[in-house]
Amino acid sequence: MIKVAIVGTGYVGTVAAVAFSAIGNEVVGIESDPHKLDSLEKGTAPFHEPTLDEHLREQVATGRLRFTADMASGVSTADVVFLCVGTPPDITGRPDLTALRTAAPQVAAALADHTVVITKSTVPIGWAEELRSLLHDAAPHGAQVDVVSNPEFLREGSALHDFLYPDRVVLGGDSEDALDMVYRLYRPILEQTFSGGYRSHQPALIRTDLATAETIKYAANGFLATKIAYINEIARICDNAGADVETVAEAVGLDHRIERKFLGAGIGFGGSCFEKDLLALEHYGIDHGLDLQILRAVNPSNITQRLQIVTKLADGLGGLDGKRIAVLGLAYKPNTDDVREAPSVSIVESLVDAGASVVAFDPVVKHLDEVPDLATAADAYDAVTGADAAVLLTEWKEFGGLDFRLVAQLMAGDLVVDGRNWLDRERISAAGLRYVAMGRRAAAT
Ligand code: UGA
Repeated sequence: MIKVAIVGTGYVGTVAAVAFSAIGNEVVGIESDPHKLDSLEKGTAPFHEPTLDEHLREQVATGRLRFTADMASGVSTADVVFLCVGTPPDITGRPDLTALRTAAPQVAAALADHTVVITKSTVPIGWAEELRSLLHDAAPHGAQVDVVSNPEFLREGSALHDFLYPDRVVLGGDSEDALDMVYRLYRPILEQTFSGGYRSHQPALIRTDLATAETIKYAANGFLATKIAYINEIARICDNAGADVETVAEAVGLDHRIERKFLGAGIGFGGSCFEKDLLALEHYGIDHGLDLQILRAVNPSNITQRLQIVTKLADGLGGLDGKRIAVLGLAYKPNTDDVREAPSVSIVESLVDAGASVVAFDPVVKHLDEVPDLATAADAYDAVTGADAAVLLTEWKEFGGLDFRLVAQLMAGDLVVDGRNWLDRERISAAGLRYVAMGRRAAAT
């Protein structure tokens, strides 16, 4: 049993706290926001993540997991301290390190004789060196503190699963003792020996230096985002050539060197990670005199892709002014309430700017800060009633099960635009609706 302190109980911190407790460790989550703290103590995560609340309550009930606002009491008895505070982009696009720079000296001041401080927040490459000096400057005389980088690869919507059954665990550091300690913490996950582990799944361990571990995180997200932007540019070619991007992606993905995952064409990526991490890489290039042409091109390509769907709606309706559009889905992907950098925001804004009236329905998201007077419907059928067009922006499971004959009766028009290439085009066409997708032909009639 290892004593774990987790500083910052946002998405990553809460999931890590629940998972480390679930595999048998004593965990304290440190959270300064009284509302979040209250909610966590009652077993409710302050964000939507399937099954997390249930596991949170279970772990709090075991007595192994607790939350506190008191940094000193949380950290002083810990063997390892994880820094999981947010690093959102600042005004220049670089990761804002204010929360980390505030937390690090507070952690250091409360440290016992030998502690390992681990960065899990996504940080600029090279941050570990700054962390080391912040900790050494503030640590009590004689305390030994080692720094480890342990990036996360969690997807919202399946974060706990990704934590417990990862493809790999990355540990970066230059102290063998510190790396051994964090390895021991992850051992039940690496060997899948915890209750519920899959013995046939053996995650890889990458044990490396600090800068390499920090770079792995950005390289993974940068590549995934590039893959999506790439297939979306191919989708634009398909639209122009009358080709089908789904067949192209399938055939290309059969090449083991490429593989099908993340070749899902649509309205492009959203969320708090890809755009932000690409910006961080771009700024790394600027700050270090490196011309990172591919990485620089991905965000602009992704924004262009979002707006393709507005053009498709305008083309399909003969203009947008005065048209009523039903938007199905606002979250940046299903199973989350997150709308950070969601494609829905700029798409809804563009539709409204072009004079359309928009009615949205999302099973979880009921409001967009950027469009405060956005009309929302009680359900998908309510949203499409009287609409000239319906547009799918998030592939929530329930939209796949819609009765499209009923949708056709309720709509004033007949256009369905599938922003995720995900709906059943045969069923939609059979209901007498016009199906339009991204780089994809309509169903044969
Ligand atoms: C992403 C990474 O997948 C995680 O490994 C990483 O840990 C995380 O960022 C992070 O850095 O914290 P996440 O943003 O939760 O995870 O979601 P993804 O499932 O990767 O999807 C991101 C966006 O790409 C979504 O908007 C999704 O709709 C879109 N996407 C995904 C596509 O447009 N096409 C695809 O084929 C796949």
